[in-house]
Amino acid sequence: MSVNLKKYLHNLLSQEELGLLVRSYDVIGDIAVIIIPPELESKENVIGQAILDNTKNIKVVAKRDGIYGGEFRTIPLKVIAGENRKDTEHKEYSVQLLVNPEEVYFSVRSGTERKRIASLVEPGEVVLVMFSGIGPYPLVISKNSQAKAIVGVEKNPIAHSYALKSLARNKRIKNVRFYNGDVEAILPALNRLFDRVVMPLPKGGELFLPKALQVLKPHGMLHYYEMQNEECFDDSIAKVAAVCRQQSRDLISAEVVKAGHCAPRTYRICIDCVII
Ligand SMILES: C[S@@+](CC[C@H](N)C(=O)[O-])C[C@H]1O[C@@H](n2cnc3c(N)ncnc32)[C@H](O)[C@@H]1O
Repeated sequence: MSVNLKKYLHNLLSQEELGLLVRSYDVIGDIAVIIIPPELESKENVIGQAILDNTKNIKVVAKRDGIYGGEFRTIPLKVIAGENRKDTEHKEYSVQLLVNPEEVYFSVRSGTERKRIASLVEPGEVVLVMFSGIGPYPLVISKNSQAKAIVGVEKNPIAHSYALKSLARNKRIKNVRFYNGDVEAILPALNRLFDRVVMPLPKGGELFLPKALQVLKPHGMLHYYEMQNEECFDDSIAKVAAVCRQQSRDLISAEVVKAGHCAPRTYRICIDCVII
């Protein structure tokens, strides 16, 4: 969420301190998640309180207390103002999502991308979301398409339990099933093919391309994510093409979509692939 944080704080911080302040913060349900530079640590409570005082929907302000890491891509958070909790309920494209953003990976910034994928789903499709986290892709696809069935697979047991809670909360959703475990183990056990496979694991997802292709029907759609420098988008396409060749499949079309900006000239890209 882009907000004018400096406006809230212009009487409370010096010009130099205002210059160090980030421009925006993420809003997950009623929790604001902000990055506080080390130089402003002594002012973190003042900053948190200013956000609370100026935004009536925010009840908790937390700062990032480390970086995304580990197999489950989680990040430590520290509450700096408001209620002392990290659980919340976030609404995204008519779906209620229960989440604790410290215990599981969840990025509000990918909401538009999830809706884009949902808009591509044709009536009657059977869709697989590998690495489904707390379930935003399967649930948003369900609410915003006429898919026949959507399967989500997630290894983090805590994320999986939030996905199940959200599924129960969205009572009208009947076509989603979540499985907890490693995609390498779960997909063979499902013994099922899919019209569309979504792979939202931009770091390390390439290792799972062979498994994704094994469960993708002929003429299926694959959505493969990577963090990539803008000069190397073709390298990402080449990775998918190479795995297709290994499995005697053909990549007949590959369109690169910029799904987020992560560093100078580096994007979170999705390659929309048609594979026969
Ligand atoms: C970048 S997050 C995406 C989560 C979710 N799709 C979203 O959009 O919020 C990647 C997820 O993949 C999960 N993961 C990593 N390796 C996995 C594996 N081998 N099998 C299943 N899930 C895995 C992580 O726990 C994490 O929740």
